[in-house]
Amino acid sequence: MNLRRVLVVVSAAVAFSAALGPNAAAQAPIVIKFSHVVAPETPKGQAALRFKLLAERATGGRVKVEVYPNSQLYKDKEELEALQLGAVQMLAPSLAKFGPLGVKEFEAFDLPYIFPSKAMLNSVTEGPIGRSLLKKLESKGITGLAFWDNGFKVMSANKPLRRPADFKDLRMRIQSSNVLDAQMRALGASPQVLAFSDVYQALQTGVVEGTENTPSNLYTQKMNEVQKYVTVSNHGYLGYAVIVNKKFWDGLPTDIRRALDGAMQEATVYEKTIAQRDNDAALAAIRKTGKTEVITLTPQEQAEWRAAMVPVQRAMQTRIGKDLILSINREAAREAAAQAPTAARR
Ligand code: LMR
Repeated sequence: MNLRRVLVVVSAAVAFSAALGPNAAAQAPIVIKFSHVVAPETPKGQAALRFKLLAERATGGRVKVEVYPNSQLYKDKEELEALQLGAVQMLAPSLAKFGPLGVKEFEAFDLPYIFPSKAMLNSVTEGPIGRSLLKKLESKGITGLAFWDNGFKVMSANKPLRRPADFKDLRMRIQSSNVLDAQMRALGASPQVLAFSDVYQALQTGVVEGTENTPSNLYTQKMNEVQKYVTVSNHGYLGYAVIVNKKFWDGLPTDIRRALDGAMQEATVYEKTIAQRDNDAALAAIRKTGKTEVITLTPQEQAEWRAAMVPVQRAMQTRIGKDLILSINREAAREAAAQAPTAARR
């Protein structure tokens, strides 16, 4: 057992015995440790703090939410283990990180170009597809509460990335998703899985040469300081599922759980209103430094990127499920049809 794992087990045991204390239970607030890996000023970081405020207010202080940003407590993989062991109660991992839990379907969100717009993405996460995906977590001892947004990703490197051929043999950092691995290989790059907290240093030292992320994640981790070029490719999506330890959640008094549900709904609305704005602001800030060139692809270049990456959708059918990919594509068509008359009226 490594040290981190020992710490997870010990803190789970401490949390458990504290919960058993006779008087402590009557007086002490219920503590929700909410761990995440990004900066407090990102959309996820701000929404976690908003949830804390709303939850503590709605429960009149009977619940205390402790937010731990920037991998302060755990890195990507360890935080999922910690949640299952009960050492933390709440997380919001990116949808690309559920594969190691055995819920591969979440990697559908990583498929290149599967979401033509945010409206379409929302109709998937907020509709029956999103609900059935969250349900799949229950057998892992996890309850899914909400989907949170980040945005569409850009690519970065120390050389301009304009055409698929520019990726040849480039060591690109990815999250732990087989779809992202296939996406980078489709571009001819060499994908390397790294925890989010290790990316800045890996870029700085040349362990990896490039990465993909949202502008808000790049900027708040200062990755742009060690990347000379950012291509606004919007080739894929990054979002989150807010999850809790199921045993903890089911064991809460009903009125508390209801209040927390309400706080989560409100925090989710807030999160979705700030995500795009913050990404736009981060991209503008990166541009403003004058040290990183922000590349916009021509329609011809965009078509080349699509041609290289769209086949990943079909190649990943066996892993993710053909029906799920088809139902997302159907939802895209339905949403596009719903938008069409509105667009025509404008
Ligand atoms: C990443 O690892 O790049 C992201 O998942 C980080 C995050 O939580 O946004």
